[in-house]
Formats: sequence, structure tokens, C-alpha cells
Amino acid sequence: MTFVIEAKKLSKHYPSQRENYLALDSVDLEVAPGQLYGLVGPDGAGKTTLLRILSTVMEPTSGSAQLAGFDVMKQSEDVRALLGYMPQAFSLYPDLSVMENLKFFADINGVPAREQKKRIDELLAFARLTEFTTRRSENLSGGMRKKLALACALIHEPKILLLDEPTTGVDPVSRRELWHLLAKVIQQGVTVLVSTPYMDEAERCSTVSVINQGRMLITGAPIELEKQMPFQIVEVKARPRYTLRAVADQTDGVLSWRAVGDRLRLSVDNPNAVMPRIDDELKKAGAQISILREARILMEDVFIYLVEKQKEQA
Ligand SMILES: Nc1ncnc2c1ncn2[C@@H]1O[C@H](COP(=O)(O)OP(=O)(O)OP(=O)(O)O)[C@@H](O)[C@H]1O
Ligand SMILES: [Mg+2]
Repeated sequence: MTFVIEAKKLSKHYPSQRENYLALDSVDLEVAPGQLYGLVGPDGAGKTTLLRILSTVMEPTSGSAQLAGFDVMKQSEDVRALLGYMPQAFSLYPDLSVMENLKFFADINGVPAREQKKRIDELLAFARLTEFTTRRSENLSGGMRKKLALACALIHEPKILLLDEPTTGVDPVSRRELWHLLAKVIQQGVTVLVSTPYMDEAERCSTVSVINQGRMLITGAPIELEKQMPFQIVEVKARPRYTLRAVADQTDGVLSWRAVGDRLRLSVDNPNAVMPRIDDELKKAGAQISILREARILMEDVFIYLVEKQKEQA
């Protein structure tokens, strides 16, 4: 298998950081052609650092990376030619209009003048911005701005697209719309690497890597990651809540629990053994049970488990 994006033992130490602190710690990455690959992790995980290195904006302290076989350090011009990059901080010019921004990105990316109009019209339709061509980008809504930034990153028909938190700070409707746009980009054969802090978005990707404190903790298809977990989930809703919490704390086979909305998600070793115990204990304590059932493992559960494990090991 030849990978479109391949990184080996990438590490990054920023000069202003503590001596032994690494923003990226020996990260490996393999992205196959045509994938929608998600990089999921919280604030400060190292997502931007990794994407900056891959996009040739910054050099790693050690390690290597190739995009479509081109080395990010030695062949950065070749890499840039086939790459679209949407940085986390705004890449747009606030005082330029939608049309002017697109034209600007077309020019700096060497899109020939005779092809520009067609390409810009296509992207305006794609991002549904056709009616807003004269609006300054500073006056666009957050979601529209992200869509324009995506259109600008696509202007030269890149084969590889790197997107750094394209949906952060965007309303839920625009978030969905952006993911629909990404699905269309994938259909056109582009390989997409996207970072996100949102676990629900990770579930939309074909492959996901969880990153935290500069380390890759796990990689795989979301459904495969769930299968690798050494626990299952039981969901319980019961009143009073303090009784529920006390029972969750004391019942054998409950490894940990967390509150989500008005219910608890229990990580358990064996749901069939634990559920009757919980039922029993709650009834003995006089609690009213409205939900007690097995539930699917979510990316959020995977993530919390891995981060806790990383903490214990540290
Ligand atoms: N220019 C810099 N100088 C010093 N430290 C930095 C610099 N940029 C990032 N860091 C540190 O490196 C680590 C990784 O940061 P990075 O921005 O890559 O994380 P991130 O996953 O993109 O986070 P976020 O979700 O907040 O964007 C953090 O501890 C951060 O504080
Ligand atoms: Mg970032």
C-alpha cells in the first residue's frame, strides 16, 4: 500500500517550551488514498503542530513526512502544489470580498486566468456563496467564513486537503453543511486529513487517530476502536440521583462512570452480570429506575478511557 500522507516519528519541540516537553512526540501517520481521515484530540493535543508540519509551514524537530511521495522538507514546493490547507486561524483577508478572496487564492496558487472564472463559479455554487460574492469576508457569519476558507483551499484542485478544525466555533447547522461538503470533496477523489475536537465528528471519518499531549493513542475505523475497548457501556437513569451515583460507586463490575445529561454511563466488564446487580441495589435503596440498558460505545467513551490510561501510565 502506498500512502498519500506518511509521517514517521515526527517530533516537535518549540524553543519556548520546557526542555523535555514535546508538542509532538514521535508521531506516525499513514493516510491511504481517498480517505477521510480524522485527527481527534483536545486543546493542546498537537493537531495544529502536526498539520503545520505536513503543510510545510513549519519543520519538525525530528522525524520525516511525505505527501504523495514528496518530502515535506526537501520538496516543499512539490508538496504545496498538490496541497490545500485550511489553517485553524483565519486564512482569509477580512477586508476583501468573497470574490476577491477567491481571486486572490487563485492567483497565488497559480490558477491560470482563463480557468479562474469557471473554477470560482463552481466553488461559489459548491459552498452556496453565489449570492454573497460582494460581501466582505469580515461580515460573513462564522459558518460562511469557514465555507469560504474551504473554497479558497480547494481553488487549485488539490489532491490532498488538510483542514485544521474546520467546524470549531460554527453553529450545528453549518457544521453539518461543512461535513456534507467534505463528503463531496471525498467523492471527487481528494484525500482529506481533518482535525477536530468533537468526538461525534470523528465518527464520520473512515479512519481516526486519537491524539493527546503530542502522542497518538490509537488509530482505526471508529467501529473498530470501539471493539478494542476492554469494557462495555450500561446506561442508567434513576431517581434520586444521589442514590444512583452511590450505587454506581459501590457495585461490583462497574469500572468507572460518568454523567451525561440526566443519566449515567457506566463502563462495566460484563453488562449481563452488572445490570441485575444495579437493578437490585437501586430497588433496595428505593430508587425509581426509568432506564437500565446496554448502550453502544461512543468515541467519547474511547477517548476518555485512553486519556485516563495515559494519565495512569505517566
Ligand atoms: N508557537 C508555539 N510556541 C510554543 N508552544 C507552542 C506553540 N504552538 C503550540 N505550542 C504548544 O504545543 C502544544 C500543542 O499545540 P497545538 O496548537 O499543536 O495543539 P492543538 O491540538 O492544535 O490544540 P487546539 O485544539 O487548541 O488548536 C501545546 O502545548 C501548545 O501550547
Ligand atoms: Mg489547533
